[in-house]
Amino acid sequence: MDFPLFHADLIGNRAIIAVVATLHVLINHGLAVGMVPLVATIEWHGQRTGDKRWDDLAYKIMLVSFIITTTIGALTGVGIWLCASLINPYAIGSLIRVFFWAWFTEWLVFISEVSLIVVYFLTWRKWMTPALKRRHIRFGFAVGGFSWVTMAIIVAILAFMMDPGSWLTERTLFSGVTNPIYLPQLAFRTPLALSMAGIVAAFLTACFTRRDRAFQQEALRAVNLWPLFWVPLTLAGGWWYASVIPEAMQANVGTALLTMEFEQWQTQLLEGVVATALILYLISQLGVLRPRWVPRIAYFAALLAVIGLTGQFERVREFIRKPFVIGQYMYANGIRVGDYPLLKRDGLLRHSTYVYPLTENELSGVLPDRLDRLADGKTVFMVACSRCHTSNGVNSVVARFEAMFEGTWEPKLLADYITNMHDVRPYMPPFPGNDAELLALSDYLIQLRTTRQPVEGAQEVGVAINPRAVDAARSAQALLSERGQR
Ligand code: HEC
Repeated sequence: MDFPLFHADLIGNRAIIAVVATLHVLINHGLAVGMVPLVATIEWHGQRTGDKRWDDLAYKIMLVSFIITTTIGALTGVGIWLCASLINPYAIGSLIRVFFWAWFTEWLVFISEVSLIVVYFLTWRKWMTPALKRRHIRFGFAVGGFSWVTMAIIVAILAFMMDPGSWLTERTLFSGVTNPIYLPQLAFRTPLALSMAGIVAAFLTACFTRRDRAFQQEALRAVNLWPLFWVPLTLAGGWWYASVIPEAMQANVGTALLTMEFEQWQTQLLEGVVATALILYLISQLGVLRPRWVPRIAYFAALLAVIGLTGQFERVREFIRKPFVIGQYMYANGIRVGDYPLLKRDGLLRHSTYVYPLTENELSGVLPDRLDRLADGKTVFMVACSRCHTSNGVNSVVARFEAMFEGTWEPKLLADYITNMHDVRPYMPPFPGNDAELLALSDYLIQLRTTRQPVEGAQEVGVAINPRAVDAARSAQALLSERGQR
């Protein structure tokens, strides 16, 4: 609660991260981690057979990957940092504290990867003698290796957020990296990336070899062997990954709360993996046996299926983590589990550095004696609900309540629901404040329903320093210096 909160009241904060991150994952998996080893393999095949058409094909596929990864790929990579630190600075702060050296290493590997990919691409047409060509191919595999290592480091952090495992008691980098979901997730993502690249490459091959039908068939046959090999491994990895999820979910929400919804999501993930794997398998099998029968559009459809699966997978990953942003340790509202008793005792307003004053629009029609209370309610909304809900946009808190309670709302009605919301809907964290704050929030929600005004974030209307937090800080300081003197 020490940062002013950015808030997007129309599409919601979650959507911003979801769009940027999913786009990044698709490009990273399909065009970098999975693609570069495939391109290097095609190039190697070209050198071995002495047929220059393979080299040309590999170069063209690399051109597409190079342009997209170094533009949209790189931008969305930086974009994830920007969005995550805007939307949940507490979570990013904690992760940096735990994974500082992992991220530092990742940065070095990433810089090497980018330099290597530039060298690999720019020297392609220049290193043509056999000795230089061999070196060039080795460069290609090195780029692939480096991009896999960056992914392997990041997956440790993603898996940690789902289930930190023994880190919860040991608090070491090692225990954080060796969390229970890490290896299964890596075992799924690695062949997924390679399969994805195979499908993209088959589509590109079908496009780039249009003028030479004989070579097109030969090339498609060869390129399709790649997904044919990796798809079964994706299936196996997906199965392993889906099988460790229930434990993480149980740890997150407790066995009693393991509701229907969670089970549904797990089944959906597994069904998605199986269905997509079947489609890919069929298309690449046909591509190998009867390349002429497979129209270009089929590869495109397969590509859409993989994109759908990856999107679904990332959604499930995000969903089963709720109500936490870091399993068991920090709720998605950015408040640590361990801070809840303190906030319950003192109220969260006493520990919130900033408050969110009512705007002109929100003020109109409000009786002066209710102003303070509504302003408190707004700050409570910002701190406790706004990371996941908007006022009237996507996942609107007003609409959610309206779906449950028609007619007029009494503050007590809303307050009772909010007190129990984490039991009814285990993907929501418990309400973090005291009873007075609960009623202030309820009042504010009733007001939001009447005015239908959007709630603007700190980026639009600014924030104010909270006098209560200043008091709290002063008394804490006084207590400390008193102890120091004794
Ligand atoms: C971790 C994110 C998160 C936080 C924080 C959160 N919610 Fe929710 N809430 C959700 C999600 C997700 C849904 C379900 C949306 C759906 O059904 O698609 C939901 C649903 C609801 C519903 C409808 C529940 C039902 O039974 O249909 C209400 C009411 C609600 N939230 C109120 C609140 C209030 C008030 C706060 C703040 C005190 C809050 N939520 C905080 C994520 C959150």
